[in-house]
Amino acid sequence: MCGIVAYIGYREACPIIIKGLRRLEYRGYDSAGIALLNGALNVYKKKGKVKELETFIAEKDTHATIGMGHTRWATHGEPNDTNAHPHYSTSERIAIIHNGIIENYAALKTHLQQQGHVFHSETDTEVFVNLIEEIQKQNQCTLEEAVRLALHEVVGAYAIVVLSRDEPNQLIAARKGSPLVIGIGQDEFFLASDATPIIEYTSDVVYVNDHEIAVIRNGKLDIRTREDIQQTPYIQKLELELDSIEKGGYEHFMLKEIFEQPKSILDSMRGRLELEAGHLNMGGIRSYEQKFVNAQRIIIVACGTSWHAGLVAEYLLEDLARIPVEVEYASEFRYRNPIITERDIVIAISQSGETADTLAAIELAKSKGATIFGICNVVGSSIARATDAGAYTHAGPEIGVASTKAFTAQVTVLTLLAMIVGHKRGTLSEPKLRELMVELSNIPTKVEQALALNTEIEQISEIFKDATNFLYLGRGYNFPVALEGALKLKEISYIHAEGYPAAEMKHGPIALIDENMPVVVIATKDSSYEKVVSNIQEVKARKGRIIAITTEGDTVIPQMAEFVIEVPATSEVLMPLVSVIPLQLLSYHIAVLRGCNVDQPRNLAKSVTVE
Ligand code: F6R
Repeated sequence: MCGIVAYIGYREACPIIIKGLRRLEYRGYDSAGIALLNGALNVYKKKGKVKELETFIAEKDTHATIGMGHTRWATHGEPNDTNAHPHYSTSERIAIIHNGIIENYAALKTHLQQQGHVFHSETDTEVFVNLIEEIQKQNQCTLEEAVRLALHEVVGAYAIVVLSRDEPNQLIAARKGSPLVIGIGQDEFFLASDATPIIEYTSDVVYVNDHEIAVIRNGKLDIRTREDIQQTPYIQKLELELDSIEKGGYEHFMLKEIFEQPKSILDSMRGRLELEAGHLNMGGIRSYEQKFVNAQRIIIVACGTSWHAGLVAEYLLEDLARIPVEVEYASEFRYRNPIITERDIVIAISQSGETADTLAAIELAKSKGATIFGICNVVGSSIARATDAGAYTHAGPEIGVASTKAFTAQVTVLTLLAMIVGHKRGTLSEPKLRELMVELSNIPTKVEQALALNTEIEQISEIFKDATNFLYLGRGYNFPVALEGALKLKEISYIHAEGYPAAEMKHGPIALIDENMPVVVIATKDSSYEKVVSNIQEVKARKGRIIAITTEGDTVIPQMAEFVIEVPATSEVLMPLVSVIPLQLLSYHIAVLRGCNVDQPRNLAKSVTVE
């Protein structure tokens, strides 16, 4: 949700910033802009993608060794050139880029207008930069001091970078609630919302903490708290590979990420599932094992696809570990008055580790004394740092906005967690544990087999690409998969789709079914198979067009469904890892055939850092 990038050093800043913005474009892509400091402080910005900005600046003077850029996902004000960042202060001596939301911007704006500040955009960010200017004027202080004082006045979330024409060899950044990473090179520094724009220059990074201000001046990095207490920067080594953030010959990141799943699932099990030794390990729960064993309840908080992974976990934890589980939308949970005790464990699931609602849900649960366990993909992310303990998913960077490999990696980690806790609690017997371990270790191969259905699914997509509605049905472990299949389709192809528990269909959605309605039914061989077969009959009787996901060798459903996609058999509890694959491919191909921008669907952003 907005990407920020900045450079200060000895190289040309502009190409570094533009390349960085392209890497961050997944975070927002409705407009982009750049500010370059070289005697003058020049701001160039354009509605649209980074490539429109590149065309716009092609003829401009972009020579500078200090600069910053922004790619926007609109919150305040429609996407246009004026609302794009960077924003100047009224005097145009200071410029800012900002990721986040300033909640008290309206009151601040009124006050600043009274002081003579002039606003051109509808953004909260322009208020922020004018506040800094006003404070500097009132206090006759340095930019650093003015930024510090301004941070005490703004309410909300931010990662900002500020440049001033009057203090030309310096770059100031600060964060609260929105991510900010600093890459440390030889006599140069790179700042960004995540490490992807940094990795090709340096692997030494510092993650800025909430309420910290970073000042880079004369080749030195100084980090202080908002209260002006100097901090020792903690330099970490990035483990990111450059290859992992490029398309590697695939037409889209989403397709690459779908095909990476055998590996990302395996990576998420690596070191945790030791088949030969018959061990399961998860470093993150070691010191909290007893808490899990004694937990009276587990509450899962997440959003979107991660919430669907949480629903799978509800089935897993109740089945295998016999702990009551509640799965909550983080955005609802945080504004309820939920009953949470010290014996509760809250599991927060997030690919990006930056989702504002999930972060706020964690803070609420923490304040009530619960133990917080995080499952994140992005190392060092805000959620990973806000939790008491946790496990990373090791899916590698997910760049396509629609989440695919993160989902299966989350389900893999949650499965391992449920197995470990179930075993410790004595609710999962040794032979059953062993059987599941073997089956889980076979999942990457089964996912590979499901991926081999790609061409077949592309042909089916051709037939349904012009549909206006889709219904997805599943029961038990396949119910969250139905929700996930529907979400994937709507977010990238803009076809309305609904996921439903198959048996609930007759309580409403059945009224929608006619000869034009494609109904995807996940009908693999499991404990509710017979019931799902009956649901298929109900759809067929109303002439719905059935696309069934079945287990290999099923001879019953092919007699009823118009299209059958066969996936390999596996244990019921592991089936979501396999049955979701054809649904990801179906949505991908339909979106491509409809000419949609698969990796950057309209109105969406990869990490939702605003509530
Ligand atoms: C769907 C999708 C979103 C995210 C949601 C949560 O494909 O990507 O629904 O799952 O915004 O994001 P994270 O997992 O980063 O907290």
